[in-house]
Amino acid sequence: MKTKHIDIEIGIADHLDELDKTDQDLVRHAQEAAKRAYAPYSNFKVGACLLLDNGEMIEGNNQENASYPCGCCAERTALHYANSRYPESKVKAIAISAFNGNGLIDEPITPCGICRQALLETEMRNKKSIKVIMNGQNHTKIVNCASDLLPLAFDNSQL
Ligand code: THU
Repeated sequence: MKTKHIDIEIGIADHLDELDKTDQDLVRHAQEAAKRAYAPYSNFKVGACLLLDNGEMIEGNNQENASYPCGCCAERTALHYANSRYPESKVKAIAISAFNGNGLIDEPITPCGICRQALLETEMRNKKSIKVIMNGQNHTKIVNCASDLLPLAFDNSQL
């Protein structure tokens, strides 16, 4: 049996000012969006901000429900709105931030599996990599494409 290794490059910034100006703006918008989340059950407020190639920044946050599975993550709230409002525009980047009861979480938030799959679909649909900027108090991590977060993914080439 052969083995194969998959390498991914992760940028790690200890301070937001190490990011370029646009990425800093995206993180700040994600933080603001998180503060408007509806998360009465988890008290974990997540915000996302997308950058589209038409220059629009689209924010989203998590929307929970008493029927828990009905809720939606911040990333997909933003992504589905962006794809419905601007179907011709490509998503260039997404920043994600989250607050718990103590404030901005210490370690960067990483998207859940369903959101990774949703990001991958948009990446493939647009044939454009989506930079994923994951923000926390201690540092911010960046990967250059969403598919880096989902190795061995299922996609439409397998249908
Ligand atoms: N959540 C997100 O919005 N994005 C993530 O990447 C992880 C989890 C939300 C879902 C739920 O409302 C709360 O955070 C706790 O899981």
